[in-house]
Amino acid sequence: MTIKKAVFPVGGLGTRFLPATKAMPKEMLTLVDKPLIQYCIEEAKQAGITDVIFVTGRGKRAIEDHFDVSFELEQILARKGKKKLRDELRKIHELANFAYVRQGEPLGLGHAILSARSLVGNEPFAVVLGDDIIRAKVPCLKQMIKVYEKHGGPVVAVQKVTGPSIRDYGVIKNRKIDDRVSQIVDLVEKPEPAQAPSDLAIIGRYILTPAIFRYLEVTKPGRGGEIQLTDALKRMAPDYPLFGYLFEGTRYDAGNKLGFLKATVEYALDDPDLGENFKKYLRSLKL
Ligand code: UTP
Repeated sequence: MTIKKAVFPVGGLGTRFLPATKAMPKEMLTLVDKPLIQYCIEEAKQAGITDVIFVTGRGKRAIEDHFDVSFELEQILARKGKKKLRDELRKIHELANFAYVRQGEPLGLGHAILSARSLVGNEPFAVVLGDDIIRAKVPCLKQMIKVYEKHGGPVVAVQKVTGPSIRDYGVIKNRKIDDRVSQIVDLVEKPEPAQAPSDLAIIGRYILTPAIFRYLEVTKPGRGGEIQLTDALKRMAPDYPLFGYLFEGTRYDAGNKLGFLKATVEYALDDPDLGENFKKYLRSLKL
């Protein structure tokens, strides 16, 4: 079955980016001239996703407004002869069909996904975390859908993480199938480095099947008092084949300050209008 729907859980509090995220969703933080979430929606579209389901919470209105038609702004731009810019804005609204569901309380990523259940229905779907920005020749989600189509089970994207920072991730215990694909034997949420079952850490892209909802329903709050997706996948692993996929590309954790700065520098260097001047500026700093 082809994958047409993607869930974007954007109900988190973004505490790592306070005070910037006090009144603004972290997904609206801007890389050069586009909010993080737009990069992710564009990736989804390139992977064939047509229906986007946002799981929102308090203070996330800016996301809805960003993907809505801005009628007044478009009219003003057209009147001022800025038709190219107007068309660019219109395209944002046309990236997908957008639906919204509220997560009453931020009870965790697992809970956010469960909140999208009735909108997802009985079909496989993608989950994209808007603060993971991935630069890749072939969009990460597209690579993953290919793996799903070949192996026919849920796929989580993983990257190699060594050293103490592995404790920030869910980590898989795996049995390798080929260079980039593994079957998942077990999962551990945020392990101490010595207890990590591998160096393969889960990042913010998933292909899931509707069976996950049954496991989420019975998953109790885990680390941080939140209902963790990793815990539900752990329960699912003995019953269904799950796969880890070492994606091709570079991922930036734009939900933390250093990751966000790295992404900003690299996207700015790549920007056709800014890149050269920005490079000159960085060189002039003689760090
Ligand atoms: P994170 O833990 O990375 O995001 O959750 P956060 O809670 O917003 O940020 P920090 O850690 O406090 O800085 C991973 C993803 O799950 C979503 C977040 O919006 C993020 O995309 N999420 C998390 C929800 O939608 N609901 C929740 O209850 C928790």
